[in-house]
Amino acid sequence: MNVLAIYPGSFDPITNGHIDIVKRALRVFDKIIILVAVNPGKKYLFSVEERVQMIKDSLKEYPQVSVDSTSGLTVHYAQKVGANAMIRGLRAATDFEYEFQMNNANVFIDKQIESIFFMAKHEFMFISSSTIKEMVAGGIDVSKLVPAPVYTMLKEHQ
Ligand code: COA
Repeated sequence: MNVLAIYPGSFDPITNGHIDIVKRALRVFDKIIILVAVNPGKKYLFSVEERVQMIKDSLKEYPQVSVDSTSGLTVHYAQKVGANAMIRGLRAATDFEYEFQMNNANVFIDKQIESIFFMAKHEFMFISSSTIKEMVAGGIDVSKLVPAPVYTMLKEHQ
């Protein structure tokens, strides 16, 4: 049986912390669709197309991973592609409350779709897409924190 999961997020941009979650999740799931979705509370630096392309370029050696986007609900996307698992990463206790609330909302919409949480490795605990963008704006070298295609795009946006 092919077990499919979606990994939704903003990915503005994808970081090595996200990549680590994807690689570990591939030990559990046969196929993963990374889904660029919209958090209405956020303003994004990169367009959806740019975020999708950066993820594709960063994970091109993983044929089990594909990338897509949606402007709708992640649960509706999961239903459409027949995925019954949704991957999320947890970095610290502060992530928990937000994830708990979002999970409850998603379960209300469709209780057949399970969210599965992966704990971030300690070396990635402090990384977020915002931190990366702030560091770049402050002239810090983030090449060890993001995949090479993202590093190139960040430099182009400076
Ligand atoms: N490594 C590095 N960073 C990580 C991380 C990890 N392992 N795990 C989380 N993060 C960071 C992200 O970089 C991001 O940082 P930022 O806030 O600086 O951008 C932050 O944690 C959380 O981002 P993300 O996981 O992408 O969540 P989000 O809140 O931006 O978006 C959606 C979540 C898009 C999946 C959610 O809003 C959604 O599902 N939207 C569609 C509508 C919907 O279905 N809503 C739910 C039911 S109503």
